[in-house]
Amino acid sequence: MPSTIAQSRITIQNTLTLSDINGAPGADIIQGLSQTPKTLPPQYFYDEQGSILFEKICNLPEYYPTRTEASILRNFAHAIAHETGPCELIELGSGSSTKTRYLLSAYADLGQAFQYVPVDVSGEMLTQSAHQLIKEYPSLTVHGLVGTYEQAMAQLPTPPNTPRLMIFLGSTLGNFTPEQSDRFLAKIHASLRPGDYFLLGVDLQKSPEVLHAAYNDAQGVTAAFNLNMLTHLNCRFGSNFILENFKHRAVYNQDFGQIEMYLDCHTDQNVNFKTLNYQVNVCSGESIQTEISRKFKVDALTKNLAQHNLTLHQVWTDPQDWFALLLLQCV
Ligand code: AVI
Repeated sequence: MPSTIAQSRITIQNTLTLSDINGAPGADIIQGLSQTPKTLPPQYFYDEQGSILFEKICNLPEYYPTRTEASILRNFAHAIAHETGPCELIELGSGSSTKTRYLLSAYADLGQAFQYVPVDVSGEMLTQSAHQLIKEYPSLTVHGLVGTYEQAMAQLPTPPNTPRLMIFLGSTLGNFTPEQSDRFLAKIHASLRPGDYFLLGVDLQKSPEVLHAAYNDAQGVTAAFNLNMLTHLNCRFGSNFILENFKHRAVYNQDFGQIEMYLDCHTDQNVNFKTLNYQVNVCSGESIQTEISRKFKVDALTKNLAQHNLTLHQVWTDPQDWFALLLLQCV
């Protein structure tokens, strides 16, 4: 049930429902594996080991998005704060709020007390980083929301007198299908008032070689991250995927402007999900798609955002135009 822990400048609110806490029933897995070609939902990458592997990916020499986005924030956080003026900051998928510190510092420098609302599924991570942040920023209050983006957007704290700045970094939008993205953007719009802001970090289209290397790193960390999804499913749903039967593959689909990650099966296997009472045959030569990572063109994305009444205010990029931060305003 939703619960709240409040300390002087920190509130942590749990927006997870009982069914989330007890574990998802896995209907999404059955749906994905019953279709042709087979898919598995990318949220199953992120058990404890998956989150550790993703942190490692972010620090790989080939995986440019994290450090490129951080460099844009480092260079332009003050410009962003200057454009919006004092705001309440809400961040979807805040993690440890590492990159966000550039923004928090810039908003602190505006000289007014302000609130930061981090949203994350990990309550432990939220609580730890909230305690750290109030030490670093004396003018800050933190209202953390533990839950999914949807649950948190439905339970945002009472709007303040200042505008809201909704922050969605890391090009996570690229992991949504166009349909999922449209549903998500409609929810973003619904949680903002006219004049509020939306700061969106997205990975841009670039040479296929650079993209291929970023998702096929030499150390094999992305391969381990991809395969770990099967270990996670085996633990969580009592399935019996044999990892040695599968191989990581990531390709750039130029027609769709997206990286596609697959687990290619090399030996026929009947996979039995004990806790789901579900069995499926995976044949040699078959591929399971585990993720898409769309790469954007600023013009097309801006048009799509405008259809959701989110109009472009300003764009900041890096010198190579590899990544962009879009500041949008709600109309
Ligand atoms: C979280 N997301 C934006 C990452 C991406 O680049 O699409 C996930 C990832 N998959 C493989 N490497 C990183």
